[in-house]
Amino acid sequence: MRIDVISLFPEFVAQCAAFGVVGRAGERGLLSLHGWNPRDYAEGNYRRVDERPFGGGPGMVMLIEPLRAAIRAARAADPAPARVVYMSPQGVRLDQAKVRELAAHERLILLCGRYEGVDERLIQAEVDEDVSIGDYVLSGGELAAAVIVDAVARLQDGALNDAESAVQDSFEDGLLDCPHYTRPVEHELGGVPAVLMSGNHAHIARWRRQQSLGRTWQRRPDLLDEAGLSKADRKLLEA
Ligand code: ADE
Repeated sequence: MRIDVISLFPEFVAQCAAFGVVGRAGERGLLSLHGWNPRDYAEGNYRRVDERPFGGGPGMVMLIEPLRAAIRAARAADPAPARVVYMSPQGVRLDQAKVRELAAHERLILLCGRYEGVDERLIQAEVDEDVSIGDYVLSGGELAAAVIVDAVARLQDGALNDAESAVQDSFEDGLLDCPHYTRPVEHELGGVPAVLMSGNHAHIARWRRQQSLGRTWQRRPDLLDEAGLSKADRKLLEA
């Protein structure tokens, strides 16, 4: 998969993608990440990328042309069609289903705004969808882009080792994850649930499922409606 990031700070997103699973996905050739700075496409001595908004009001708005030129350069760098995603608090809220959908594209172009936003005409002309990473306002789209790069990179085939399998992740089945334990068995902070040491895989799977269901019910009951629980799940939840 190829991801191009359009940003005044493309190095920031590249740094976020340099470590751990995402860094390894890059090394394995599963993800190629490219940054494009609209300032490189801006004109004049000052290389302006923003202007005051028409109609007045605070803040600055990013100019059409530097962004359009950067998007065009990114598109031209590879023949595969790219889905252009604008990082914006006005977008659809990112969840694991949306991450899976984005991860299935051969190419993404992530457009990061700064200041008050981006001239609406550029968004109308070039952007396929707006995505938000949550109901709060960041000072730019870069952190949101880094979140998407991370979440889609780990879903690429071969990015995770078996032990890290994405199938077991929180949200992959619409529920929160179960608790995890490792050595030592006895510690001043407490013991380890006996079932995990029983060696009985069916019991362990049942316990984990029950913990997932219980936590989701306690912490995110909204997810339970969507998760499509089986009869067996309902029994576990009531037990
Ligand atoms: N840019 C600023 N805030 C944002 C958010 N919550 N999600 C995505 N992009 C943003």
